[in-house]
Amino acid sequence: MKFHLVTHGCQMNAHETEILAGLLEEAAWEPAAGPEDADLIVLVTCAVRDSAERRARGKLGELKRWKQARPGRLLAVGGCVPQQPEVADSLAEDFPHVDVVFGPANLARLPVLLEEARRGGRAVEILAAPADTPDSLPVRRGEGVRAWVTIMHGCDHFCAYCIVPYVRGRERSRPPAAILAELEQLAGQGFREAVLLGQNVNNYGRDGDDIDFGELLERADGITGLARIRFTTSHPANFAARFLAVMARATRVCEHLHLPVQSGSDRILAAMRRGYTQSGYLELLARARRALPGVSITTDIIVGFPGETDGDFAQTLQLVEEARFDAAFTFLYSDRRGTLAASLEGKLPLAVRKERLAQLNDVQNRIGLEINRSLVGQRREILVEGSSAKNPHRLAGRTRTNKLVTFSADRQAGDLVTVKITGAHTWTLEGLAEE
Ligand code: SAH
Ligand code: SF4
Ligand code: F3S
Repeated sequence: MKFHLVTHGCQMNAHETEILAGLLEEAAWEPAAGPEDADLIVLVTCAVRDSAERRARGKLGELKRWKQARPGRLLAVGGCVPQQPEVADSLAEDFPHVDVVFGPANLARLPVLLEEARRGGRAVEILAAPADTPDSLPVRRGEGVRAWVTIMHGCDHFCAYCIVPYVRGRERSRPPAAILAELEQLAGQGFREAVLLGQNVNNYGRDGDDIDFGELLERADGITGLARIRFTTSHPANFAARFLAVMARATRVCEHLHLPVQSGSDRILAAMRRGYTQSGYLELLARARRALPGVSITTDIIVGFPGETDGDFAQTLQLVEEARFDAAFTFLYSDRRGTLAASLEGKLPLAVRKERLAQLNDVQNRIGLEINRSLVGQRREILVEGSSAKNPHRLAGRTRTNKLVTFSADRQAGDLVTVKITGAHTWTLEGLAEE
């Protein structure tokens, strides 16, 4: 029996898909070459915006034909969409061809639920938001130079717009020994780069009496088999000054911060419950740039939060001009059931939100291109990831600052190469290998 996994959403989901693959292989399932070859498809969904949830529902609708094309096929849906209160039952109702519904809280139960479904029933099981997560689940990682390592689960912030704390539960840090052992093991398997994952990695350790995020970074930096260490996501309200000191001392921890700002208006930041102001955020960026020369900074921004005026939005544009982000992921505000923001007055029409998003993207794309152009002529260390997706005759790799560079060289994935930057686009760079 063969399985095929389809993943939407963030790196958490991508990594949990690797765990699902590990669990299925342990239960004697084999990976399929593709959907047509598969007896089981598992869709791992995202619920962060309505568009993500619609995408999940669209995919489930599409998979009806796949399911009916061969008797005995099983279709399972997991991830964050069914973990939302009351959604699991409505999914099961709307998509009678789905056999198993589960969530992040019980992902380790997938093989058992599939067994139940195979014996002729349907298995819809959603546990309360995840409270604890077993630490010894098998992982089947994909090929590549980069490995994701969860350091903590959940989120305690309850930003007014966000569904994540509801579907992922409270913050739980993994024991440092387990994380460091996993990093050592990855180095032994030939992975070159590890990405430490959590919704808010800066709060690592706050739920226990072990080490904090700075200490964890410092210890991870000592693992000599790895070339690079990254982490995501940071929270501006929890990014302590000592983390910068650790990063400045470190050799493997890379000079890149993903620091979602969400808005430039203090009024909207307060309504979002973000816990910082525009000036506090800009001060943090200034400190980071002093401590880590050449650091790249990326962000997330939401436009059209309930009650956002033209003046508030102008503050966001002004912040973007001042912050000079290397890149920004920008989103239209989307109502999520059960969140505080969903019950606020002052919802903005889609046309207004779209107009603001377009304006914001224009400003940010110009700045991103300006920053990339300023790198032309400079040399950077690139970790080769493989051949370029656009041009298989070229290689693609990243700078320590996480910028994608394409170039030609007789090298392979995992190699470190010095490359001179020769061309710049908004999102990528071109280069010439020097050795
Ligand atoms: N834990 C991370 C990621 C959260 S989800 C963090 O705190 O940054 C990724 C991004 O999705 C968020 O940073 C936010 O910009 C966006 N997002 C979350 N909820 C949203 C909503 N209801 N509407 C629009 N964008 C949203
Ligand atoms: Fe959501 Fe805020 Fe937690 Fe990020 S910090 S996951 S935006 S609640
Ligand atoms: Fe989406 Fe769940 Fe990640 S809602 S962003 S897949 S934590």
